Amino acid sequence: MIDKSYDDGHADLSSHDSFANGVPHATFARLRKEDPISWSEPKDDTKGFWNLTRHADISLANRESHLFSSAQGIRIEDQSREEYLARRTFQETDAPEHATTRRTVNPMFTRKLMEDFEPLIRELAANIIDRALESTEFDAVDAIAKQLPMLMLGRILGVADEDLEWLVEKGDALIGNTDPDFTDHVIDKMDTSAYRMMPFRSPAGVELYDYASDLLHARRPLAKNSILDIMKRDENAMDERAFQNFFCLLVAAGNDTTRYSISMALHALANDNTMLTQLKTGQYWDTCADEFIRYASPTMHFRRTATEDYELHGKKIRKGDKVLLWFVSGSRDEAVFDKPNDIILNRKPNRHLAFGQGGPHVCLGRYLAKLELQVVLQELIKKVDSIKATDTPSWTRSNFICGVKRLPVRVTRS
Ligand code: HEM
Repeated sequence: MIDKSYDDGHADLSSHDSFANGVPHATFARLRKEDPISWSEPKDDTKGFWNLTRHADISLANRESHLFSSAQGIRIEDQSREEYLARRTFQETDAPEHATTRRTVNPMFTRKLMEDFEPLIRELAANIIDRALESTEFDAVDAIAKQLPMLMLGRILGVADEDLEWLVEKGDALIGNTDPDFTDHVIDKMDTSAYRMMPFRSPAGVELYDYASDLLHARRPLAKNSILDIMKRDENAMDERAFQNFFCLLVAAGNDTTRYSISMALHALANDNTMLTQLKTGQYWDTCADEFIRYASPTMHFRRTATEDYELHGKKIRKGDKVLLWFVSGSRDEAVFDKPNDIILNRKPNRHLAFGQGGPHVCLGRYLAKLELQVVLQELIKKVDSIKATDTPSWTRSNFICGVKRLPVRVTRS
């Protein structure tokens, strides 16, 4: 079911306020049907952009990365060449440069390597659940969803546990740069030009850059053979700015996305306890993580830029135009998914786009994210018989990242 109470089917996709009560799915459904390539004109001085909302069109643009480039920025924000060069990560590059870095980092995120982390993930998850269940009422985002991605990110990066709360707070300030709960520098409400050379135009970027430099120059401890340690010692080692940007990318990409997938799954369970009973049968573990992540699609879009004129559904995209790939909409396209607005725990096949599948930038952390979601749910349902929402959830104010940021619940222990 789509909740249409906050979305009349004509939400302004350029406005973060349109997403402050949840994703405007009625708007995406209408666009997929009536206007699959629509134009948005922001109210501020940001240049307008195209919205691709159908699964087939998003997949095409994602695949044809020579026509739809990542190398001029991947968010709506307009950047000068100077800003782009200062802030870009390898996610903001195209082939062949992108492929070279991707070949270096791929072996650090394989399915096999992530599966080897399972005992650790389970131990951490079991502790998190035990601690949360010391009370029967709590905020499930704070007590559960936020915890595991943070601890695992620390293990993967190789940084000290006592720094993690701080790192996550800074990562939230980057990703949540449009939400006053996460930053004092709300990007569409104040002048952030002083930080235009920093990731997400955020002052948190300055602090994260400094932290990364400390790691690079051994002024802070870094675990041996962690990803950052390997990157540091790589023979094609990144220069300092590239290392800082790579660090910020992992802090931003590896954290909120997984947290919001877990919080969306908990939100679903808290509103429909039959799902919890279904999960207790143990029949759905092969498929349910993908389904919860399809449903959540926390990184709602990434942007591309057209490298030449291109016609789609009778509309002319001009060279240099910004084109948004709305993964969150493609993952609910009724042309591909039966009952797209329902969670079907054994959905198979599940060709969702939440990880940007089908393109060269497909999520590097997808095996880790799925495993974390699955294990934390397994550990939770072992110990509870019911979860009930005690208040309406609150959502992150952003048209880029979607998620439940507060989810008060009451649980009954088994
Ligand atoms: C459910 C959780 C997650 C979701 C929904 C998600 C989503 C995505 C999406 C949609 C992309 C494609 C970007 C594009 O097309 O430009 C992406 C790329 C990426 N993700 Fe994730 N992500 C998640 C978890 C993670 C984790 C846990 C990590 C790392 C620890 C990670 C690291 C990355 C990196 C480095 C890229 C860039 C890859 C490239 O450009 O080649 N992600 N992610």
